[in-house]
Amino acid sequence: MFASRVTYLACALIILAMTACEVPQEDTGARLSPEPPAVQPDPHSYSRPDEVVVRHLELDLTADFDTKRLLGSATVAIENLTGAEALSLDIDDLEIESIVLLPSGKTAAYSISADDAHMGSELRIDILPSTERVRIDYATDPGARALQWLEPSQTASEHPFLFTQSQAILARSWIPLQDTPGVRLTYSATLRVPVGLLAIMSATNSTENSPDGVYSFEMPQAIPSYLLALAIGKLEFRSLGPRSGVYAEPSIVDAAAWEFAEVEAMLHATEDLYGPYLWERYDLLVLPPSFPFGGMENPRLTFVTPTLLAGDRSLVNVVAHEIAHSWSGNLVTNATWNDFWLNEGFTSYVEIRIMELLRGPDYAEMLWGISLNELEREIVTLAPGSDDTRLYVDLVGRNPDDGMTSIAYEKGAAFLRRLEHHVGRARWDDFLIGYLDHFAFQSIDTQTFVKYLQDNLLSDEAGPGAPSIDAWIYRPALPDDYVRPQSEAFASVESELARWLAEGEAKDIDAADWSTQQWQHFLNELPEILDPGQLADLDATFGLTNAGNAEIRAAWYEVAIENDYAAAYPGLEEFLVTVGRRKFLKPLYEALAADEEGLAFARRVYARARPGYHPVSYLTVDDILEKAGRDQP
Ligand code: BES
Ligand code: ZN
Repeated sequence: MFASRVTYLACALIILAMTACEVPQEDTGARLSPEPPAVQPDPHSYSRPDEVVVRHLELDLTADFDTKRLLGSATVAIENLTGAEALSLDIDDLEIESIVLLPSGKTAAYSISADDAHMGSELRIDILPSTERVRIDYATDPGARALQWLEPSQTASEHPFLFTQSQAILARSWIPLQDTPGVRLTYSATLRVPVGLLAIMSATNSTENSPDGVYSFEMPQAIPSYLLALAIGKLEFRSLGPRSGVYAEPSIVDAAAWEFAEVEAMLHATEDLYGPYLWERYDLLVLPPSFPFGGMENPRLTFVTPTLLAGDRSLVNVVAHEIAHSWSGNLVTNATWNDFWLNEGFTSYVEIRIMELLRGPDYAEMLWGISLNELEREIVTLAPGSDDTRLYVDLVGRNPDDGMTSIAYEKGAAFLRRLEHHVGRARWDDFLIGYLDHFAFQSIDTQTFVKYLQDNLLSDEAGPGAPSIDAWIYRPALPDDYVRPQSEAFASVESELARWLAEGEAKDIDAADWSTQQWQHFLNELPEILDPGQLADLDATFGLTNAGNAEIRAAWYEVAIENDYAAAYPGLEEFLVTVGRRKFLKPLYEALAADEEGLAFARRVYARARPGYHPVSYLTVDDILEKAGRDQP
């Protein structure tokens, strides 16, 4: 079953910079795709990889914390497929100093197109038939969208910190590249950073500081550009298992090692489900609280928010999610951002399967319940008829961020669960193993998946009872045949809630053993309007305004804003100023912006908070507050 994966791995490891991976052709009985995969046109890239394709990148960069710039060179090894006379790369606010063609050493002529608000610019470089590599000397802009340069005061260690976030199309703001998920490349890097700081990447990493501040990296497996990642900070490492560990600032590294102790078990669980882990190491990096996501699946080195450090391992499903991406996303990659659901829908499904193996079916059912709740809310937010509630979305001319809604995650996962229920778990699991194996190290689009699904799973299953691919993928809203979650843990929350609403005292709610997910469900299910006495009673009894668990706290603040519960506002303000995770910020600022008083509060807090947010988060909040300002000036 896994012969081809092993061949791929061996091949990936010995892959040379300039050559495509040639898989031996003897009949192994496996479904190999030795042809270079057809490259999809990507509406969010200026590059033309069907003409000239970048196969390898060599970075040589210095991190200058004083001027907030990365300076140095990127050398791209190319394959000219059509005898093209130009190489087009994506850049966003890069300062290009000079460009040299190699091996000739000739200076290249180039042009840069006008800047587009979402896409940045095309860097068009004239190349020669003899050109094998192109070296670009450049510097990043201090406002580069992928980068956050943190002041010592924004970190636990009181040291400077830099991290990148390349997904979706931000890699072009720190590296000149074919910035499309349809192209995969290997890379190597040399980084020069201030002595005393550790530099780590989505590549081979050192666990110790280098005495001269120079670090070297190799990434032998080919990855799409959105998985290029770098972090520099005062970091320590703790081992979690034979191939896993965690990096974090010294004061939190032991707490992080405790919280994430199940990483090795998660890797084993996923291997049992979907086959070998092909990236050799799996390490985690815990970032400062301004990190704009819960987690980011940078290969070999997942980035996570410190808000996962709840002290009770209750939020580690985010780690299961990022581990799942080592198969869905990093191995089988969405060809364009219109196909984003292929990354996130599969990953959200696998996340729950991993958690089911770790915590049991009741726990998994709670996660399905939360997923459905998020999906229903998102459909209301986007409007049920909205084209953005389709799995396959049309983002041409738009910021790909617009398509990165819960639809891709939760409707995508619900569709796969529907398929599982239709054919039964055993057949479904075999299908998924085959799918991941067949398209490993390739980028595919929705149509390719649909054809594979029809050929390999649904060919003799069509007819009454089969899920409609059209309804699930190409039409809006949630089809009626979704599998309804059945959670006893949630049913008991609902009955406690009903009793409290009827009888009134929070101290009588039997919540002593509630899990974080039960609390989330309780808060999600509260009626929209509550009176001030009810809110004060809940808060006094359960300490919600200052809850240690970020998910509970954020869900409570939404309830508080909805009901103008003033006592929560100091806690809310502190949360908004310290935490930069977009998933929390977006609904909170949106709820605040809904009325005049809330908008005034939001503007005041945001003036303090914005300098501490990553561009991904402040650009989102800028939009929310600007729109609110237009609606109610
Ligand atoms: N790859 C995403 C994060 C992402 C998506 C970054 C789109 C940029 C653009 C990551 O795997 C993710 O989904 N993170 C979630 C985790 C959650 C769904 C368990 C998050 O950050 O909340
Ligand atoms: Zn994800």
